[in-house]
Amino acid sequence: MRNSSNLAVFPSLRGKNVFVTGGGTGIGASIVEAFAEQGAHVAFVDVAHTESNQLATRLRAQTGSTVWWAPCDVRDIAALQQVIGEASQTLGDFSALVNNVARDDRHTLQSVTPEYWDERMAVNQRPAFFAIQALVPGMQRLGAGAIINLGSTGWQSKGSSYPCYAVAKSSVNGLTRGLANTLGADRIRINTVSPGWVMTERQVRMWLNAQGEAEIQRNQSLPDKLQPSDVARMVLFLASDDGAMCTAQEFKVDAGWN
Ligand SMILES: NC(=O)c1ccc[n+]([C@@H]2O[C@H](COP(=O)([O-])OP(=O)(O)OC[C@H]3O[C@@H](n4cnc5c(N)ncnc54)[C@H](O)[C@@H]3O)[C@@H](O)[C@H]2O)c1
Repeated sequence: MRNSSNLAVFPSLRGKNVFVTGGGTGIGASIVEAFAEQGAHVAFVDVAHTESNQLATRLRAQTGSTVWWAPCDVRDIAALQQVIGEASQTLGDFSALVNNVARDDRHTLQSVTPEYWDERMAVNQRPAFFAIQALVPGMQRLGAGAIINLGSTGWQSKGSSYPCYAVAKSSVNGLTRGLANTLGADRIRINTVSPGWVMTERQVRMWLNAQGEAEIQRNQSLPDKLQPSDVARMVLFLASDDGAMCTAQEFKVDAGWN
């Protein structure tokens, strides 16, 4: 089993500003916590007020790091741009951006209307592009940056209960590959981290059952269930100077499922 007291410290992350979308719960909260523990200054947005407040308060007390958060529905791009502006004014330019926000609601092919399609893309696809657009000028001023886009292995293993989500998450690799050369000229790296089935509170509450447990045992190479912190460790590495020559890639954290 993983022993959290044995994990790496990344000195290059100390004092860096990191922006995380959907950082209030789940994998995003674990990413926020992992950066705060490294001494980075973290800003995040979320719609979950209570959980976000509790997380920020706990991490400020535990780590002494700056943990700034603002309520923002990322489906509203103008609001997202405004919050990024406010965070930059408060903390300064950001060295790293983690595009984490998503929602894997279930739906069938026949139930999808154009309005539902647009709403799925507004949560699962569009915010990453516009967050990158808003934060890249600051990275250019700093002379370097790291962008980590959360993809998924769900569509790669033909998960069939969320076709719109599958479309949006498969496009994350295109976002990463399509911007790598443009951003690379300014030493801004961009990578995809694709989790397998991670045991967030939402996943356990909504989808994990006896059949799911059996699927994990059948499909993963490793027997242990994936935890949000397992994904956060990969994100830390890619944001740090240890990942200095990694860009345009997809890194899977899925215990060997795919
Ligand atoms: N958990 C998994 O098994 C898994 C598997 C593959 C990929 N992923 C990816 O990892 C990332 C995190 O997933 P997760 O499981 O932690 O998700 P989650 O649903 O547990 O958490 C997502 C966070 O985003 C917030 N959020 C949702 N809609 C929002 C909106 N419109 N505006 C602002 N915030 C909003 C939620 O409040 C929540 O805090 C996602 O990109 C997801 O696609 C997760």
